[in-house]
Amino acid sequence: MYNLRGKTILIGITGGIAAYKICELIRMFKRQNANVKVIATPNALNFITKLTLQNLSQNDVAVEEFDVKDYKPEHISLADEADIFVIAPATANTISKLANGICDNLLTSVACAYKKTIILAPAMNCNMWGNKIIQENLTKLSGLNYQILQPESGFLACGYDGKGRLCSLDKIFDATVNSLFASQPLKGKKILITAGGTIEDIDPVRYISNYSSGKMGFALAKTARELGAEVTLISTVAHDNAIIVKSAIEMQNEVLKHLETQDAVFMAAAVADFRVKNTAEQKIKKIDDTEEITLTLVKNPDILKTICDLHPTAKIIGFCAESENLLENAHSKIQRKGCDYLIANDISRKDIGFGADENEVHILSADGKIEKIEKASKEIIAKEIFKRIWSINMN
Ligand code: C5P
Repeated sequence: MYNLRGKTILIGITGGIAAYKICELIRMFKRQNANVKVIATPNALNFITKLTLQNLSQNDVAVEEFDVKDYKPEHISLADEADIFVIAPATANTISKLANGICDNLLTSVACAYKKTIILAPAMNCNMWGNKIIQENLTKLSGLNYQILQPESGFLACGYDGKGRLCSLDKIFDATVNSLFASQPLKGKKILITAGGTIEDIDPVRYISNYSSGKMGFALAKTARELGAEVTLISTVAHDNAIIVKSAIEMQNEVLKHLETQDAVFMAAAVADFRVKNTAEQKIKKIDDTEEITLTLVKNPDILKTICDLHPTAKIIGFCAESENLLENAHSKIQRKGCDYLIANDISRKDIGFGADENEVHILSADGKIEKIEKASKEIIAKEIFKRIWSINMN
């Protein structure tokens, strides 16, 4: 139904009887391939065991505030990692702490540090729900990054009949999924990205390649996925979900296999212009009285030009790395290759481009427009590229 692969959903469980229902919610998200992380308040563990939650989420369950994972305190790392935070059931106690910035356990601390959407599903006794203080606290939260899911009326575990039952799990699930996909302007688009430097064999143990790290392609793939696109990553360097290829010929075959269904192709790979004419089947031996050997190179296919010549419906974006006369060379390259956009970067600078974590690029369009993206991390550059090519507004 939904593909939540690559999405991390953080579920916060507080100490109410409805806590047991969250076991099924975890399973609903897991069935759609989400990565589910759970934080329980110490009170929640009176209603449900840590072991149950660990088994269902297939992740450690966090409870204590001062556990340190990697280099960050837990409340920051969980807040950074999660694409969405769902607090269910949310007790009157936790709601009031959240509304007042109280951070006295891991759940309230993570919520305080969390900047994206928090889905809050309250559940409590009907008289607590009707308490003006609780309602004021909820009003305060609803003006912030909280989406409140109203509880339902009916028979309550405490014996009363009234409003306060946790809303249905389907409602929580739908609100979470809708919110996850609301900020996905590229949902439904298919995007192919190549990354890394191609590897051209000389013999079984030696090859010709280049210094491309694949980082720009990986940043584009990550950003495209975050924006909702279905990404096909073809890479010479191992990376999540990548189709691994080695040579330019292999890369071309793989690109052509997928081309027809794509909405855009980013040729971020550094493809070798030449390959060895006769790759040796056995390791080339050192010959004592020979000071030189000659490798004959033949031209590789120009993948970018080949796909542009096929005039696919996809937008085609080429990349060029120049060590001199950047814009002049880029300008003639976009015309020669026939792509829709060319992302040009200056490789004479050591602080950007090849292998570095940062880049500074110019985006040339086929209509002659040139836009500069100032030096920034490759992730930010990737976002800026998508923003400009699809005229997307995002933070
Ligand atoms: O011609 P040049 O190598 O500078 O062009 C770079 C662009 O062309 C990049 O997008 C690269 O992925 C692509 N390219 C290609 N096939 C080649 C050489 C480069 O697709 N053989």
